[in-house]
Formats: sequence, C-alpha cells, structure tokens
Amino acid sequence: MSGKILVVGAAGQIGTELVLKLRDQYGDNNVVASDIKTPGYEVFEGGPYEILDILDLKRLNHIVSKHNITQVYLLAALLSSTAEQNPGFAWNLNMNGLLNLLNMARKNKIEKIFWPSSIAVFGPNSPKEMCPQYTITEPNTVYGISKLAGERWCEYFFEKSDVDVRSIRYPGLIGWKSQPGGGTTDYAVHIFHKALKDRHYTCYLKEDSFLPMMYMDDAIRATIELMEAPKEQIKIRSSYNIAGMSFSPKEIASEIKKRIADFKISFDPDHRQSIADSWPSSIDDSLARQHWLWEAHYDLPKMVDVMLKNLQFN
Ligand code: NAD
Ligand code: SER
Repeated sequence: MSGKILVVGAAGQIGTELVLKLRDQYGDNNVVASDIKTPGYEVFEGGPYEILDILDLKRLNHIVSKHNITQVYLLAALLSSTAEQNPGFAWNLNMNGLLNLLNMARKNKIEKIFWPSSIAVFGPNSPKEMCPQYTITEPNTVYGISKLAGERWCEYFFEKSDVDVRSIRYPGLIGWKSQPGGGTTDYAVHIFHKALKDRHYTCYLKEDSFLPMMYMDDAIRATIELMEAPKEQIKIRSSYNIAGMSFSPKEIASEIKKRIADFKISFDPDHRQSIADSWPSSIDDSLARQHWLWEAHYDLPKMVDVMLKNLQFN
C-alpha cells in the first residue's frame, strides 16, 4: 500500500471494528481513525485519531495531505430510524459526505474509496425473498433514498472519471464490540445485552418480521476483501448485494432461549415496523460470490454462540 487509510465515522458500530481490523492488517500507524466524536479506548489509543466532520471539505483536504491518505472508508451517515426524524440533515450528511470524497478522487487526491450502501435501497415493490442484485429499487425511507442516490453517484463517477469506488449493500449488522447507531435492525444487538442483563427484551418489531442480517466479522471481512480484490474483478460499481443470514425476532429469541433458559421476549412494534416491512426478508448475493468470491461464514446459531460468549466475558 502506497499511502495510509482514513476511516471516517470510526467511533460508530462498524467503524470501531473496522479500524481495529485494518490496523491489525496494515499496521497501527497506517490507519487514521476520524469522527466528530471521541471513539472508544481501543480505537483512540491504538493509532492516529483526528476530529473530522466529513462535510468540512477544508479539514478533509488537510487531513488527507497531512497523513498521505490514499484510501478512505466512509462510514459517517444517519441510519434508517434516525434519518426519519431529521430528513433534511440526513440527506445532507449521507449525500454530501460521499460527493466530497468522490470529487477528491476525481481530482486524484485519493486513490480508492469504500462507501457502504444498504438493503434499504429496496422498497415495498422489491421481491421479498432472495431479493436479486438487479430489481425494482423504490425505497420509501429518507435513508433508502439517500443510499440509492449514493449508489448512482458511485457508478457515475466510476464511468465518467474512473474513480475506484467500491460498495456493499450491508444487511443489518450484529457485533459485540460496539453498539448500533439508530437503525431498524438494532434490535438484533440490543436483544443480547438485555437477555444477559434482565432475562427479558421488549422488541419494537413484530415476532415474524424477517430481515437480512450478518455477523460483524463477516461484514468486516467482506469489506476488506472487496477493497483488496483486483480492479477487474469489480464488475458492479453501484453496490453489491451480500447475504449472511435471515431471521425474525421470534427465531433469534428462541436461539437465545436454548442457551439462556429463562429468557423471555415480548413485542411492542413502533414506527420502525413500517421500515422493516418495506425491506426484503432475504438477499440473493450470487454476483458477489461469482465476481470476488464472497462467502459468509456465520449462520444464526453460530452468531448467537459467539455473541453470548463474548458479551458474557466483557
Ligand atoms: P453509526 O451510526 O454507528 O456510526 C456512524 C459514525 O459516523 C458515528 O460515530 C458518528 O459520530 C459519525 N458521524 C456522524 N456524522 C459525522 C460527520 N459529519 N463527520 C464524521 N463523522 C460523523 O453507523 P454504522 O452502523 O457504523 O454505519 C456505518 C455505515 O454503514 C453507514 O453508512 C450506514 O448507513 C452503513 N450501514 C450500516 C448498517 C448496520 O447495520 N450497522 C447496515 C447497512 C449499512
Ligand atoms: N442496519 C441498517 C438500518 O437498520 C440497515 O441499513 O438502518
């Protein structure tokens, strides 16, 4: 690698784990973490850290040249539930952060960008089961609209200016090292914390709401594998479908109950139910498998085992 990596949004759910993995792989000093807030101890102490608002173009340029940054992972965004509370702000952050970086790459100030999209690009008219890569995408959330527009910008900058931007449509991500930041799939992390602490969880989605999900280690591995894949293998420059597992609140609760016998779940659906209802239940990721040999390693029982084991001892 010629220069250093910058992670924007490094204090968040994915950023926390991605920074640690990238530092393992490329060396602590080669990965600069940045955010508008202070990250957890491991990220903060483990290597370089900069305060950075991705909308502040002057400071972004300064940090890129100060650290000789060649690759950027952009994770700063408002997620599906919080974006609905502040649509204008969500649009500004989710769109202009990406455009700032795409324009810098167009001017050859950086070489490679990772930007995550989401299953939220799909909407009520998309197929529910095994939703394909190419299908109807008519999102009805601010978040989904911003992700779909972002995908179109990524492909546009690649086609017109040869910008090396790579993207994945993450499903709901589940990990034990960090807390989720305002999405509709957050329940699948909260449930573990409440199961261990209170033996009870009240879920804001209905018991039979199936959603695509993935264990964080798979998501981080997918991200780095995509970024390391030879350029000619990346045939989709909007964003790749990837799949891990699909389950409902009732199913994950019953897996937890197999390991914590007195665990109980109840259901009290709120505004997030309609967001969940608009998304597919499962995803077809055959093109990611073909193009850059993507494969998930975690299914529901394996994910539940590893979540409970780690949360119990941390
Ligand atoms: P998160 O909310 O946990 O973290 C986002 C981080 O960005 C936060 O630490 C926040 O302080 C920071 N941030 C906010 N505004 C900023 C700004 N102006 N400049 C710099 N940093 C700023 O989110 P996450 O779950 O880690 O998601 C990261 C990305 O992955 C987002 O684009 C999200 O849409 C996408 N994604 C996440 C999931 C998931 O399940 N976590 C699923 C699909 C897609
Ligand atoms: N986990 C994310 C959310 O629920 C999906 O993009 O917003």
